[in-house]
Amino acid sequence: MQKNIPILDPHTFAKPEEVIITHSELDIQVDFAQHIIIGKVVHTISNKMGSDKLILDCKDIIIEKVTLGGNEKETTFALTNPIPFKGSALEININKDTNTVTIYYQTTPQSFALQWLKPIQTAGGKLPFLFTQSEAILARTWVPCQDSPGIRFTYHAKVKVPTHLMAVMSATNPTQKTSDGIYHFSMKQPIPSYLLALAVGDLVYRPLGKRTGVYAEPSEIDKAAYEFVDMEKMVIAAEGLYGVYRWEQFDVIVLPPSFPFGGMENPRLTFATPTILSSDRSLVSLIAHELAHSWSGNLVTNATWNDFWLNEGFTVYFERRIMEKLEGKSYNDMLTVLGYQDMMQTMVQLGQENEDTHLKLKLDQRDPDDGMTLIAYEKGFFLLLLIEKTVGRAAWDAFLKTYFNRFAFTSMNTEHFVNYIKSELFKNNQDLINKIHLQQWIYEAGLPTNCPKVISERFEAVETNIRDWEKGKPAKDIDCKNWTTHEWLHFFRKLPQQISPEQMQELDHTFHFTQSGNAEILCAWFKIAINNKYNKAFPAIEAFLMKVGRRKFLVPLYKALVNSEAGINYAKDIYSKARQNYHYVSTNTLDEMFK
Ligand code: BES
Ligand code: ZN
Repeated sequence: MQKNIPILDPHTFAKPEEVIITHSELDIQVDFAQHIIIGKVVHTISNKMGSDKLILDCKDIIIEKVTLGGNEKETTFALTNPIPFKGSALEININKDTNTVTIYYQTTPQSFALQWLKPIQTAGGKLPFLFTQSEAILARTWVPCQDSPGIRFTYHAKVKVPTHLMAVMSATNPTQKTSDGIYHFSMKQPIPSYLLALAVGDLVYRPLGKRTGVYAEPSEIDKAAYEFVDMEKMVIAAEGLYGVYRWEQFDVIVLPPSFPFGGMENPRLTFATPTILSSDRSLVSLIAHELAHSWSGNLVTNATWNDFWLNEGFTVYFERRIMEKLEGKSYNDMLTVLGYQDMMQTMVQLGQENEDTHLKLKLDQRDPDDGMTLIAYEKGFFLLLLIEKTVGRAAWDAFLKTYFNRFAFTSMNTEHFVNYIKSELFKNNQDLINKIHLQQWIYEAGLPTNCPKVISERFEAVETNIRDWEKGKPAKDIDCKNWTTHEWLHFFRKLPQQISPEQMQELDHTFHFTQSGNAEILCAWFKIAINNKYNKAFPAIEAFLMKVGRRKFLVPLYKALVNSEAGINYAKDIYSKARQNYHYVSTNTLDEMFK
C-alpha cells in the first residue's frame, strides 16, 4: 500500500521518491594498522523521476572519487548541509539514464559504527577484532548510502582482511577462514541500511542445527554452543507462530564484551554480547528476541525511527511467545513482570507527561538514539498484550501472521498500521476500538489505565522467601534450588532499600553474588552493593566496568556510583580508565551523564 504514499524520514537526506538504490556491491579492505576501511561501493539505482542528482547520507567518511556507469566516467559531487548527528548530504551529479554509481571512499576514526578492538580486548588476547553497529543511523559512517529504514536493497560484498582473521556479515557467511583473507558475501533479500553489518576477528563456526549455528572466538565456542543448543527449536517455535523463516540461515556471533547492546538482529547473523553466556541457558530470551526480529523489523520494518515501537514492541511480544512455547507460561509471566517493572521505572525517570513516553515518537531534529527508550519495547508489548486479550489469541495470531506476510520486505509506519488493524482485526467496530483506547496508547503520554495486569506465581514465591528472610530466616534456608536468573532479578528488586552490613555479608557468603559469572546477577547485585556501601564488591565492580561495554549495565552502575557515598569523582575515575574500552553508543550516553 505504501509504495504510492512516500513516508518522510526526518533522519535521512535521501530523496527516495526521486531515486532509490536497489542493490549495492561493496569491495572493501579492512586495515587494522590504520583502523580504517578503504574501498568502493557500486550502487545500482532506479531513477524514477529522471533526476539529475543522487543524494546519499554520509558522516565522517572521506569520499575520494565518484564515477557513473560501467565505464566509470568521473562525476562531480558535494557534501552539503552538515548536521551534528546526521552527517552530510552527499549530492552526486548523475544523468537521467545512469544505472550505477561507484563511490571510492575510506572511513575515519570518527566513523562511529566501527569499534576496533585491541587484542587485549578480545577473549583470545592475541588478535584484533572489528565489529560494526549500524542501527539506528550509523550505517552512513561506514558506507555512503541511503540510510533510511524505509529504503531496501540487496547487497554483495568482497571483503579483504588480514589472513589470520575471518570476516562475517549480515549475509551468506563462510564457515572457515580462507588462506588469502578474501571473503565474498551475498544478501539476496532486500534489507534496510541499518541491517548492514560486518565483524572481523579470530572466529570459528559451530553448527547447532539444520539452519542454525554459532560463531565465536575459539576459546568461547564451547560455552556458546552449550548456551544456544535450543536455537533450532526456537526457529521452529517462531515459524509455528507467525510463518516461515525467510532468511534461510539463523546464526549468532558472540562478540567481545565491549559490544554496546545485548543483541542486534543483523539478518542471518545476530550479533550478541558475551554477557548472555551464563552457563545455565537462562538468558536465551535475548536470542528469541533477535530471532523474532526476523519477522518484526527485518521483514516488516519501521518506516522511520519515530515508528520504532513497530520494530521493538512487536518483537518483545513475539519473543515472549517463543519463550512460552519453549519454557511454558510461567516463564513468559516472569519476563512480562520484569518488563512491566522496567517500563514503570522508565516512566518515572522520564516523567509520565514526557513525549518520549508516546509509542509514536517525535525524534525529528534529534539524534534518534536519545529518544529510543524501553517505552517502545514494553509499552508497545503491553498494547499488543491488551489487543490479544481483547480479541482472543486465535484471532490475534491469525492477524499477525497475515500482517507479516502481507507486508513482507516493506516498511510500515504507525498510521498505516493503525488503519490496517482497525479494518482487518477490529472490522471497524468502534466499541472495540474505544475499549482499547488505541489513540491514547499510541499518541499520548504515560500508561493507560487499561494496561493488562500480569502476575507471576514464581515471583510470589520469591517474595515469600524475602519476607521470611527479613523476619530472621537464615539466607541458606531460602528455597532457591530451581530459581532461574529471572527469579534472582526479582529477588534483588524486592529486597529492602536498606540492608545492614551483616545482611549483605550473609547474602554474599551464602550465594557468592560478587563472584557470579552471570552478568545480569552481577549488575543487579552491584547496584545494591553500591547503595549499601558493601565495599567488598568494589574491586569486582571496577573490573566489571573495565571489561563490559553493554550500555544497559553501564548506565545504572555509573548512576548508582555517582549517587553513592563513593561519589562522582570515584565514578569519573573509573570512567576515565574504562572509556577507551567502550563503543561510541555507550560513551555517547555516558559522556552526557558526566558532562
Ligand atoms: N535492535 C535492538 C538494538 C538497538 C536498538 C540498536 C536501538 C540500536 C538502536 C535489539 O533488537 C535489542 O532490542 N536489543 C536489546 C535486547 C533485547 C532482549 C531487549 C538490548 O540490546 O538490550
Ligand atoms: Zn530488539
